Amino acid sequence: MMDWDTLKAACAQCHNCTLGETRHNVVFGVGDEHAEVMFIGEGPGENEDLQGEPFVGAAGHLLDDMLEIIGLHRSQVYIANIVKCRPPHNRDPLNTEQDACIAYLRAQVALIQPKIIVCLGRIAAMRLIRSNFKITREHGQWTEKGGVQMMAIYHPSALLRDPDKRPDTFEDLKALQRQIHAICTHTHCQTPGAGQPSA
Ligand code: URA
Repeated sequence: MMDWDTLKAACAQCHNCTLGETRHNVVFGVGDEHAEVMFIGEGPGENEDLQGEPFVGAAGHLLDDMLEIIGLHRSQVYIANIVKCRPPHNRDPLNTEQDACIAYLRAQVALIQPKIIVCLGRIAAMRLIRSNFKITREHGQWTEKGGVQMMAIYHPSALLRDPDKRPDTFEDLKALQRQIHAICTHTHCQTPGAGQPSA
């Protein structure tokens, strides 16, 4: 199996597709390399491309808020994308681009060995769960694949565009929190306010 340094170096130099010609930075992934929970988006946007880190723009701030609802911080999980370079004008990554990039994500999953993978939005769900995945109908549902519990929730960008989707996502996050309690051993969701004992 490829080690982290080899994988990161290969990714940094990648020109497997034309997205490599227009990127400022490869957006490899961020978080705990021993995380039990992974979040997978579709691909970097403008801020991510400029900073080299996933989910640092408006959608990223909302993702941080979503994690906080269930008592998690991004440092406790691992966050990555289906494609590691920004598609121009934030268009959906093409299937050919996904095909060219997916081996990097598979290698990340192999190294991390997460117990839970949460797909952010339909692009990730269609690639990782099932090619005919319907996000409006199937968000929040668990599927087991290769010993990993998988589910998809709405992409934070979709929640920014359509706040009516937020109540469903709140329920999905609660289901994720219950699954973490059930099967994770070192991922502890902090209850807000339950910090230091007072005496
Ligand atoms: N949207 C994504 O899918 N991924 C990011 O990293 C940022 C926005």
